[in-house]
Amino acid sequence: MNKSDVINLILKDRKNTPKTHSTAKFAPSNIALIKYWGKRDNILNLPMTDSLSLSLGNKGATTSIEIIDKENDEFYLNNEIQNADSPFSLRLSAYLDLFRFKEEHYRVRTQLNIPLAAGLASSACGFAALVLALNDLYAWELSLSELSILARLGSGSACRSLYKGFAWWQKGIHANGMDSYAIPLETEWPELRIGLLIVDGSKKLIDSRSAMERTVKTSQLYAMWAHQVAHDFIVLNEAILDKDFVRLGEVSEHNALSMHATMISAWPPIVYSNADTVNAMHAIWELRKQGLELYFTQDAGPNLKLLFLEKDSAVVKEHFPGVEIID
Ligand code: PMV
Repeated sequence: MNKSDVINLILKDRKNTPKTHSTAKFAPSNIALIKYWGKRDNILNLPMTDSLSLSLGNKGATTSIEIIDKENDEFYLNNEIQNADSPFSLRLSAYLDLFRFKEEHYRVRTQLNIPLAAGLASSACGFAALVLALNDLYAWELSLSELSILARLGSGSACRSLYKGFAWWQKGIHANGMDSYAIPLETEWPELRIGLLIVDGSKKLIDSRSAMERTVKTSQLYAMWAHQVAHDFIVLNEAILDKDFVRLGEVSEHNALSMHATMISAWPPIVYSNADTVNAMHAIWELRKQGLELYFTQDAGPNLKLLFLEKDSAVVKEHFPGVEIID
């Protein structure tokens, strides 16, 4: 099964006649509290485990798409045209190839209102916004589950970026991945805050796709990952239902550090943290000892995402003046 097969299953006999000339859609970025790490299918981005994320509200990507009468696509990121052979353009162009029924070309403008350097899964909100825009351009009228599957084919974590609040990506069991998509959780938790703590804005050493593959192939600890996720899932769901922030913080931080443990034990080792990351962790642990309810999570990069409640925003800002708090 390849991506085109899945797209045919979803679009069926929908005609790809554009209903509008151009359109733009927004999708929020998301931060996983229980991480997606490792694929059971590298082509369809099918995960080994479920994952659960929190959306970043109005922080994310607005993507506009229009059909142009040209030989090639044109890609803009934050108003800057991207070279046709840049990784950004090549990735988007390959994705759009899946939908080009009449050899049409597109101009795609992606506008991010999150710092590009924050390692903030800009590909997640970018692909989710692009899928929403394609759905509108061609008036497919797909369900959110179908849109989530299409977004997953662009980037795994993008399937969780279609929703506000908490999103649960169910790994699914089918080989075609038609049961692997995200759904929103009903519970809202408006007091929950995420703060972006950027310790290093440079490009990551190894992309998450390669890092996942290497971890699955070479880490002996990876065998425990699915067990950890299954346990953490139960705890996180209870914490969300009970609005128990300390449990949410503990299980999220533990899950992130366990994911990094699988990477450190890969070969060659993958260490995304740098000295500043580790110093920030110690500062958080010290503040916790003093009674502050502050936790963190970390993705495939050196930056941390702080987890706390709205009531502690001022104190967090005092200790980490550079933090960007998402409301
Ligand atoms: O979807 P990708 O390939 O960008 O991978 C995301 C991986 C993590 O951010 C580390 C975890 C997650 O669930 O978002």
